[in-house]
Parts: sequence; structure tokens; C-alpha cells
Amino acid sequence: MTILVTGGAGFIGSNFVLDWLADASAEPVVNLDALTYAGNRANLAPLAGDARHVFVHGDIGDRALIDQLLATHQPRAVLHFAAESHVDRSIHGPGAFMKTNVDGTFTLLEAARAHWGALPAEAKAAFRFHHVSTDEVYGSLKPTDPPFTETNPYEPNSPYSASKAASDHLVRAWHHTYGLPVLTTNCSNNYGPLHFPEKLIPLMIVNALAGKPLPVYGDGQQIRDWLYVKDHCSGIRAVLAGGRLGETYNIGGWNEMANIDIVKTVCALLDEMKPDPAGQYERLITYVTDRPGHDRRYAIDARKIERELGWRPAETFATGIRKTVQWYLDNADWVHGVQSGSYRDWVSQQYGATR
Ligand code: NAD
Ligand code: TYD
Repeated sequence: MTILVTGGAGFIGSNFVLDWLADASAEPVVNLDALTYAGNRANLAPLAGDARHVFVHGDIGDRALIDQLLATHQPRAVLHFAAESHVDRSIHGPGAFMKTNVDGTFTLLEAARAHWGALPAEAKAAFRFHHVSTDEVYGSLKPTDPPFTETNPYEPNSPYSASKAASDHLVRAWHHTYGLPVLTTNCSNNYGPLHFPEKLIPLMIVNALAGKPLPVYGDGQQIRDWLYVKDHCSGIRAVLAGGRLGETYNIGGWNEMANIDIVKTVCALLDEMKPDPAGQYERLITYVTDRPGHDRRYAIDARKIERELGWRPAETFATGIRKTVQWYLDNADWVHGVQSGSYRDWVSQQYGATR
């Protein structure tokens, strides 16, 4: 038995693969990743020499490749993480988001459908297509609105969330029309190790350590729910193991916080863990022009996954953010590699030109 993971060199995908294979009895992983700017093989360095991890450099839009991987490895599940994931990039260049998140998901679904349709009865019944999605598909909440449940209408506001909403709809339709055994999870903002420093929390940590401004969009009062990445991974494992086919499950941290409070928490931890002789890190906070169409508030009602599958996050924000800051302090080489582009150089040397 094998699982096929897409996007397993990115932030959440690599955490998922590392956690999965940390279990000595776990099934092998075939890890398909295009190694865009966000994909980093160094994330998977602990798996060097582990025969249970097969890395494949390729695109989810390459139907012939997907067909070949499904036929060769006969995975019992596809875990679909691969995506363009950064809202700011989607505002500047939405094309890549449509190509990967919409067209790429379509190609993957079609390949999975053809493969699954030809399986013998037992393997067919066991097969799963798990689609990893976001709470951003539900749109923006007002301050007094209840958190998102799985029945909230879809109201995506950014090119990123629109592309993810489209992919969710495709996954749903492939279940209802063709019977493909799908599961979808919609998760809130993740944070933790291996997070590319273009997103809020890692950007604030690495900028603060470099004495650079900490750019807070608008008034900093936008609210997100934050979940430690390893809790997201355990939630996905729980849904894969016991989720009802065709259902969606919201995954969240029960932890709504305003951006400015996130930034101040990071600064306070750094003051304690890596004091700067020049002064407190908060001095670097700089309010900048807001993101166009910036969603004001996301919040997740994660009672369904708890009720049906017994999942709750293991970390509080206080414990998770401390581990995260410590990880960045301990992994300056990783940060340097990502920022200097040396891992991109390695990719082109190893694989030739990539997207
Ligand atoms: P990421 O940007 O860090 O990683 C994405 C990975 O996908 C990269 O390794 C990249 O190389 C790969 N990829 C991109 N296009 C590809 C393609 N066409 N073919 C194959 N591989 C490709 O993203 P992430 O933060 O790890 O997010 C993973 C998934 O989780 C995404 O689907 C995202 O929408 C979802 N999600 C993310 C968050 C979050 O807070 N980061 C929250 C909820 C859901
Ligand atoms: P981000 O990490 O990009 O995730 P998302 O937009 O998917 O929620 O941003 C989290 C929040 O932080 C979002 O409200 C935008 C804000 N933000 C800043 O204020 N400054 C920044 O430099 C970044 C990257 C984000």
C-alpha cells in the first residue's frame, strides 16, 4: 500500500509527509511536486535514504505522468496539497492560480477517476481522493457572525480563494456525478516549521531578526483563525482514516486573533528568546497600504470533525507559536537558503529549468 501526495515539498505537504513517515509502520509515500518557488526539497532532507519516500518532480497538470504514477504505484489514496497558495501573489498574477488550482485539480480528478474506475472491487471501495482546501472559500465574516460551518455558502473574494473554491466544486461534482470517493478539508491559517517567509508569521520572524520593518496591512485588525501545522496534518489523517465519503470537514484552531496581536506576540517571544540590543522588536512594526479586497475576518467552527472523528488540536497558540519561533531560531540555514535563492539554484542544476 502506498499514498500519493501532491505538493509534498511545500509548507503543509512536507510537514504532512514528514509526520506520516515518522510512524515506522506507515505506508510509503510517492511525493509529486513541481518545485515552484514554494517547493523546497530541503524540507524533505530528513528523508534522504528512506526508501519509503519516492520524490517525483512533475506537474499535477501532466496527465500522462499522473496516469503513469497511479498505474505504477497503485496508491490507495491521493492527498492533494499542490496549489498556488499566496493571496498577494494571486492579486498580482492570477493566471498560475487558475492553471494549478483549477486546471491541475481537474486533471488530477480525471486521472484518479480513470484509475479508480478500473480497480477491482476491494481496492475500489478502499480508494480515497483527499482534497486539501482552505476556509478562505467562505469569504469574510462580520465581527458578530458565527464562525464558518461546512454548510456556509461559498463567497470567495480573492483570486486565490476563487481558484480554491472552484477546485472544491470540481471535487464535489466528481463525487456526485461519478461516485469518486472524495474527502475535502477546509482549514484555517496554518503556521509552524518550514513556512515560506512570504506569509505573515514567518515573514515577521525573519524580518525582525534581520532588523527589517514588520509590514502590517491596513489597521492590522483583520482576524484569522490560526492552527499549528502539525495539528492540520493530524486532522487530515483523521479525515482520511474515518471521514464520510463526499463530506467536507472544517479544521481550525479555535484561535481567532487580529494580525497586529499576532505580530506583537512574535515580537514579545523574540524579545525573550533572542533579545536585540537595539531595543524591543515592536519598534519595527510599520503600517503599510492594505491588501486590495482584504478579507476582514475568518473563523472556523470545527465541531463536526470533533464530533465525528474525535479530532481536536493538540497545540494552543501559546505553545505552537513558541515552537515555531524556536524552529526559526534553530534553522537559520534553512531561512538563508530560501532567501538567498540557493535552493532555487540547486533545483535548476538538478532538474533543469522549472516554472
Ligand atoms: P505552499 O505554497 O507552501 O506549497 C505548495 C506546494 O505545491 C509547493 O511545494 C509547490 O512546488 C507545489 N506545486 C505548486 N504548483 C504545482 C503543480 N502545478 N504541480 C505540482 N506541484 C505544485 O502551500 P501550503 O501552504 O503548503 O498549502 C498546501 C495546501 O493547503 C494548498 O492547497 C492550500 O490551498 C491549502 N491550505 C493552506 C493553508 C495555509 O495556511 N498555508 C491553509 C488552508 C489550506
Ligand atoms: P497571509 O499569511 O498572507 O495569509 P492569508 O492572506 O491567506 O490569510 O496573511 C495573513 C494575514 O496577515 C492577512 O490578513 C494579511 C496580513 N499580512 C500583513 O498584514 N502583512 C504581511 O506582510 C503579510 C504577508 C500578511
